[in-house]
Amino acid sequence: MRNTTTILCWIILIVSFLTLGSCKKHDKEIHKLDVKKENWGRTKDGQEIYLYTLSNIHGMQIKIINYGAIVQSLFVPDKSGKYEDVVLGYDRLDDYLKDSPYFGAIVGRYGNRIARGRFTLDGVQYQLATNNGPNHLHGGIKGFDKVVWNAEPIHEKDKVRLKLTYLSPDGEEGYPGNLKVAVIYSLTNHNELEIEYFAQTDKATPVNLTHHGYFNLTGHCKRDILEHQLWINADYFTPVDSTLIPTGELRPVEGTPFDFRQPTAIGARINDPDEQLKYGRGYDHNWVLNQADGTLKLQAALYDPQSGRYMQIYTDQPGLQFYSGNFLDGSIVGKGGVVYKHRYGLCLETQHFPDSPNHPEFPSTILRPGEQYHTKTIYKFSIK
Ligand code: BGC
Repeated sequence: MRNTTTILCWIILIVSFLTLGSCKKHDKEIHKLDVKKENWGRTKDGQEIYLYTLSNIHGMQIKIINYGAIVQSLFVPDKSGKYEDVVLGYDRLDDYLKDSPYFGAIVGRYGNRIARGRFTLDGVQYQLATNNGPNHLHGGIKGFDKVVWNAEPIHEKDKVRLKLTYLSPDGEEGYPGNLKVAVIYSLTNHNELEIEYFAQTDKATPVNLTHHGYFNLTGHCKRDILEHQLWINADYFTPVDSTLIPTGELRPVEGTPFDFRQPTAIGARINDPDEQLKYGRGYDHNWVLNQADGTLKLQAALYDPQSGRYMQIYTDQPGLQFYSGNFLDGSIVGKGGVVYKHRYGLCLETQHFPDSPNHPEFPSTILRPGEQYHTKTIYKFSIK
């Protein structure tokens, strides 16, 4: 009898253990590494656009469309564990097709400006479109933010990835050479959004690819970004002329509103009487990142004290364009009907310096046949 009781006890113990185990497994099944694909409409010329949702085991989600390789939304937790969207964008493809200030897109062939759309390479002068006052901006009239990319999800052990590819034909927007481009977005189980950029060309061409996400860590744009604290590991920045073209000078940040070597609220000095701030209508400049030797380094961080959301930026790039959403003026109604008012989003674009093709003293942006362009940036989310 005693034996039967012992056996019964053991059975109960084993069954409860197994049930507990399966509960745990079920928990993980709710949040797991996954990619979902859904139809998201068509472009005017009938090309199918899809929305890909990448999720990780914690419940972080990134939604990406193959139009413009755009990150349409990015859900990350605040200090109370609440997941909210921390990037600006639209709910519908039509709004992206109509007009977008590069919300969440990949910009290229050349991120930021090229003076008067002109450069000389190997003795040949090239003229690009001038789509920003007298200058060329973000790849021209139809840059990589407005083309349809091929998308292919890739599953790995501890990350989910979406590989987007595009072939930019020789002469597109005035640039030389057929350029094969690939961008891989990855979501890891460490709440990181990794972006890798690859390119190959058959003629020498400038290439400077970046991601143009507008961040607002308050979640669903509850407030502007002026209380966000920014840290940039840079002793110098590149001052600009009144059309936002670098003058060529590397100016120390010391004693200027451009010193973010200690985390500082973006709004603390943005209205200072400073000529550079006047030209940018706020911050719209390139910082020269310290110790940029081509390897991945922690170079910037953004923190919203109210939500506790913290974003660190690791990059192998020499520059960081910090744009404080100065041109947002309340005329755009974004996701969930939110009006994007002045400085409701900010961009932190890791890249080479603007107008490098006209500044031989800047790190080179020229890609030649036989070379492989490969750069990497990680936006890592946590709470503080
Ligand atoms: C540029 C801004 C520009 C914005 C476009 C930024 O990368 O630096 O000058 O207005 O992109 O939305």
